Amino acid sequence: MADPHVAAHPTLSKTELLAAKNQEALLGGGQTRIDAQHKKGKLTARERIDLLLDEGSFEEIGKFVMHRAKDFGLDKEYYLGDGVVTGYGTIHGRLVYVFSQDFTVFGGSLSETHAEKIVKIMDLAMKNGAPVIGLNDSGGARIQEGVVSLGGYADIFYKNTLASGVVPQLSAIMGPCAGGAVYSPAITDFILMVENTSYMFVTGPNVVKTVTHENVTSEELGGASTHSAKSGVTHFTAPNEVVIIQQLKQLLSYMPQNCEETAPAAPYEASSDESRPALDTLIPDNANQPYDIREVIEGLIDTGSFMEVHQNFAENIVVGFARLAGRSIGIVGNQPAVLAGVLDINASTKAARFVRFCDSFNIPLLVLEDVPGFLPGTDQEWRGIITNGAKLLYAFCEATVPRITVITRKAYGGAYDVMNSKHIGADLNFAWPTAEIAVMGAKGAAEIIFKREIAQAEDPEAKLQEKVDEYQQKFATPYRAAHRGFVDEVILPSQTRQKLIRAFKMLENKVDTLPRKKHGNIPL
Ligand code: HXC
Repeated sequence: MADPHVAAHPTLSKTELLAAKNQEALLGGGQTRIDAQHKKGKLTARERIDLLLDEGSFEEIGKFVMHRAKDFGLDKEYYLGDGVVTGYGTIHGRLVYVFSQDFTVFGGSLSETHAEKIVKIMDLAMKNGAPVIGLNDSGGARIQEGVVSLGGYADIFYKNTLASGVVPQLSAIMGPCAGGAVYSPAITDFILMVENTSYMFVTGPNVVKTVTHENVTSEELGGASTHSAKSGVTHFTAPNEVVIIQQLKQLLSYMPQNCEETAPAAPYEASSDESRPALDTLIPDNANQPYDIREVIEGLIDTGSFMEVHQNFAENIVVGFARLAGRSIGIVGNQPAVLAGVLDINASTKAARFVRFCDSFNIPLLVLEDVPGFLPGTDQEWRGIITNGAKLLYAFCEATVPRITVITRKAYGGAYDVMNSKHIGADLNFAWPTAEIAVMGAKGAAEIIFKREIAQAEDPEAKLQEKVDEYQQKFATPYRAAHRGFVDEVILPSQTRQKLIRAFKMLENKVDTLPRKKHGNIPL
């Protein structure tokens, strides 16, 4: 294609031509469309990059790229950069690669060349070992380009998959993300969505109405709150783009640059007293009374360092990043305050994905266990609690990062095994004196093993209670497990922070390898 600038301004000097091109590229689809973007409460692609990266650190790649399409009048309509701003820069001094889709250019739609730009920075990210951040705001495949655009999407999906586990990949959804376009963010490690101005769905409300006769808005179908609470597709949400960008930066701070490195440590001044006496009174005497596992987490970690992931999804398990004596760790904790902390399908897949991420990027794992077992019922069985529960089991079994478990209260049945037990490779297992490690709760156990004795008793109620007490005394303690060495030490809650700091330090240079294989077959 002849250079339209040269044709339009034949008298420009070489440097003037460069300046004119730069100026044009900065304007994307033009001021009117930029104003329309602002009116919707959205920032432009470049404004988002400016907020994300350290001031003045952005270096753009492919600023003058133009599409090659000719059909439907596109041979007369072009924009420098072709709807995506790509390049590299730093966040808190650390290298990152970024692409930011420009909705002012053909609605941020993805053309062949737009895809090539994204793939180019992903290749650089993999070769140089630094995270990729995608700021998504796009009407999907560039309709005028047809299959060429679909090919571009597939090129990105393929790269996302190759990069998975090599460098962290983060996706912020800041506008539409529909059709097959959703699968690039879905393959990346974390998704963040802006409330009210972003949505993700495979088929939009119109198609849904035609096929299933459901009337649903874009927001209900695939808005931030839907994906944060119902589907679990998004890991984080925020009321506006500025907060989402802060979340992106915070999230990155817990991660290493790539799978060969460890996460940077935050400055930490060691204290001669790491005891936390408040934890000693946190667990209620009555084992059926709930408490908030977040209070345990907050009591153990460096003050204010917890960043919860998937906060509104499967709330019966809590996962997130934190710092312990400055070091980044991943925490998985059963939540007794919701469904008694039971493991169900959503909790299992949520935690499995988190464990998998931490293991991919050398982030040590702390497991806080208070679990009455797996959730019974036809709903769970028919939807596959077997396969889904196995994901969490598999993820823990395969994890080679330092792994420590603290059993705060219940550790019952199969869930005892699954929640990072000694048997599946945990390095250190602690229990609090309140721990109950058994096949099941005392009442259920007594009803089964003393069924005949209870039925034949003069006073069956009294007999049941007697047997419950007997089982409780024998098994509802940490000591049977400690006698076997399945628990390494029974410790006071107040001592736990100190123990964990020392234990993770001791495990700092852990090397563990898996048997040689192409890859395992996780029960997907
Ligand atoms: C080309 C597009 C476009 C697209 C939007 N535009 N989507 N151009 N290809 N996919 C253009 C519009 O023509 C318009 O151009 C500008 O972007 C802004 O669009 P508006 O409709 O004015 O904006 P808004 O009202 O905010 O609506 C945004 C939207 C809507 C909801 C995204 O544009 C829309 O529904 N677009 C089509 C979405 C779609 O069906 N995409 C294909 C999905 S299938 P002007 O010149 O007026 O500024 C797909 C498959 C991927 O993506 C498969 C991968 C495997």
